[in-house]
Amino acid sequence: MDVELPAALAPGVCPPQRIVVEDMLIRRWEPEDFMPRFEAIAASYEHIHPWMAWLAERPTLDQQRVFGEIVAESWPTADRAFNYGIFGGDGSVLGAIGLHDCLGPPAVEIGYWCHVEHTGRGVVTRSAAALTRIAFALPGVDRVEIHCDEANVRSAAVARRLGYRLDRIEPREKRAPAESGRGMYWVMER
Ligand SMILES: CC(C)(COP(=O)(O)OP(=O)(O)OC[C@H]1O[C@@H](n2cnc3c(N)ncnc32)[C@H](O)[C@@H]1OP(=O)(O)O)[C@@H](O)C(=O)NCCC(=O)NCCS
Repeated sequence: MDVELPAALAPGVCPPQRIVVEDMLIRRWEPEDFMPRFEAIAASYEHIHPWMAWLAERPTLDQQRVFGEIVAESWPTADRAFNYGIFGGDGSVLGAIGLHDCLGPPAVEIGYWCHVEHTGRGVVTRSAAALTRIAFALPGVDRVEIHCDEANVRSAAVARRLGYRLDRIEPREKRAPAESGRGMYWVMER
């Protein structure tokens, strides 16, 4: 996600760092999360790697340590992302979700992945529903978008299930191995 466009959120406007959704806690990643996050990503590599450009190679501990430090240092990060882990009642990592201020006013984008062992339970749908509501509560946001490749039917199903409208399908750079090169742009307006 690039940040060439102007920000939708004024400096200091931030979503909360902790969000409780039923039995799940969605919270800003903390530095100590690097090991459980590494383990979740490593276990889910075959599930996530086909679809997400940041996971072109198997994860490394160092890379996950650095990511945790970056998120701990600034909220949002320099690329204007608010990155959350999704945790189960026992504290285990169920997945991740992010709010990205990269589309230009008045829109923000939501991105996500789910631990392969926790798919099919609405972990991501329920988390994205909560983050969508939170995004609309932020001054400056009148539109929330979810972008996915046309071949990524499970990601598209999340957006559809939440009531996002498919605004368009158009050619998009192939950034991950399973992508078709056709992007779906799902939109929800205030
Ligand atoms: C995309 C991805 C996050 C979707 O995962 P998922 O498990 O299908 O999504 P959810 O966690 O929302 O679970 C939805 C399923 O739980 C079911 N479900 C159960 N309880 C539910 C509840 N309370 N609310 C919503 N759905 C519920 C849904 O009916 C759905 O079932 P289905 O898979 O049989 O259709 C996951 O496949 C993934 O991590 N993919 C790799 C990374 C990726 O592609 N990220 C997005 C890039 S654009």
